[in-house]
Amino acid sequence: MDKILILDYGSQYTQLIGRRVRELGVYSEIVSGDAPLEAELLKDCAGIILSGSPFSAYDEGAPVPHESLYSCALPILGVCYGIQRMTLDSGGSVERLPEREYGRKPVSLREKGSQDRLFAGVGREFSSWMSHGDSILQPGSGWRIIAESEGGIAAALAHESLPRWGVQFHPEVSHCEFGAKILENFVRGICGADGGWSMQAYLEREADRIRAKVGKSPVLLLISGGVDSTVAGAFLLKVLDPAQVYLLYIDTGLMRKAESEEVMKNLASLGARHLHMADAEAEFLGALRGEGDPEKKRRIIGDLFITIQEREVARLGIPEAFLVQGTLYTDLIESGKGVGKKAQVIKSHHNVRSPLVEKKRAEGRVIEPLDRLYKDEVRALGRLLGLPPHVVGRHPFPGPGLGVRILGDVTKEKCDILRDADAVYIAELKERGLYDKIWQAFCVLLPIRSVGVAGDERKYGYVVALRAVVSEDGMTADVYPFESRDLIAISSAITNRVPAVGRVAYDISSKPPATIEWE
Ligand code: XMP
Repeated sequence: MDKILILDYGSQYTQLIGRRVRELGVYSEIVSGDAPLEAELLKDCAGIILSGSPFSAYDEGAPVPHESLYSCALPILGVCYGIQRMTLDSGGSVERLPEREYGRKPVSLREKGSQDRLFAGVGREFSSWMSHGDSILQPGSGWRIIAESEGGIAAALAHESLPRWGVQFHPEVSHCEFGAKILENFVRGICGADGGWSMQAYLEREADRIRAKVGKSPVLLLISGGVDSTVAGAFLLKVLDPAQVYLLYIDTGLMRKAESEEVMKNLASLGARHLHMADAEAEFLGALRGEGDPEKKRRIIGDLFITIQEREVARLGIPEAFLVQGTLYTDLIESGKGVGKKAQVIKSHHNVRSPLVEKKRAEGRVIEPLDRLYKDEVRALGRLLGLPPHVVGRHPFPGPGLGVRILGDVTKEKCDILRDADAVYIAELKERGLYDKIWQAFCVLLPIRSVGVAGDERKYGYVVALRAVVSEDGMTADVYPFESRDLIAISSAITNRVPAVGRVAYDISSKPPATIEWE
């Protein structure tokens, strides 16, 4: 199976390049921009793409490719910073423009451009997506300009004798007209990469790798109830002997309605033999009693989770077990572990540092079968493994659960009210065909009570806020634009069916500046 190697210089779009290549049916791998191109990395590699960067190419400390890049005979495509870097490194000049080129910009092909394979099937003029402050003033030695944007600024370049190209715009961004076609021309046409990448191929490859690594040893997976760990569980049960697979689920009491039963049922139906549920509701609610500070609540939940995890794992009596984690490709990239280390670290605060994981990692006993997959690919793998659509399509849920959706102190009564309100909200979204259009929707229980009337009685009820956002990866998010009649109907369904709730509000803040969760 061929792959395309993506050298990452820290652009916000690097992952998008990776995804687009995979959408063409070709396996892609993102590595740090300065990685030496050794035999192992170049195995089955059909071509290389250099990403953009938040740096200017002439900045001190700007990321540079390893020298092996320039002796590599494979086709290379530089995107934005990538082509500026190649330009500077081959004697050309790159300079800051008085005005940045940002957003949709027209590009026109020069004579040579319309004959170039990179632009096969692409219109002579198209609307591209630009995001740069620097421009190429003078191409490097052996390079020529094949397309230009307004004012004759270089928009695409090709090398006269080597298989190298560069584009100043971002073909990976969906707003770029012909962007997908240009990437296809490079990946399938110029590099000739085969389209062997599929979920089935991934499943088989990972299965072989994991069987070889664990042999007959036991493997342990901590199930959170989320999509990733459920898919990881289904994967292990499929590719290993179910007798060697241990699944541990800690019910914190901060889960969604009927979540624990659902998770257990799904895993049992996949043939799990060692399925352990630890009921820790009383411990979590006890530890949280009276605490209203969001950061302290998060810490209490995280610390207690680790204590209970250690205790329950010890109880299983399998000290030699391999530990399986549901890490995704985005987690690896975000935390800078081994891939694209220039990419900014954004979500590390979400990942509790567990001594168990650290210890197993030091022993070389951690397995991460999903660590080369994006979220939607994990969902596809889940479907392939036979998980029902409502399980693989489930919205993300934070580790601290309802603990960060009940503002202020957390009690069992509040958890029950929030669970009921949330279940009504989600059921309404599903009935209205809206659930799958939304990245994440949930209710938040506010720390205030408000007056209302029910019949002739005055009532003092809880206030619930609805959240619904669309997002690619949770790092930025837009408010889902509900029709007002949907909102009004959802509000009355909640107040009718959950008597403790007297009022419903709707959160219309995007991220940034707000976050998706309220605490
Ligand atoms: P925020 O609230 O930071 O959330 O905009 C972004 C995404 O991350 C989820 N989230 C968490 N996930 N542990 C997790 O595993 C956490 O502590 C945590 N906090 C937030 C949130 O639900 C959203 O999908």
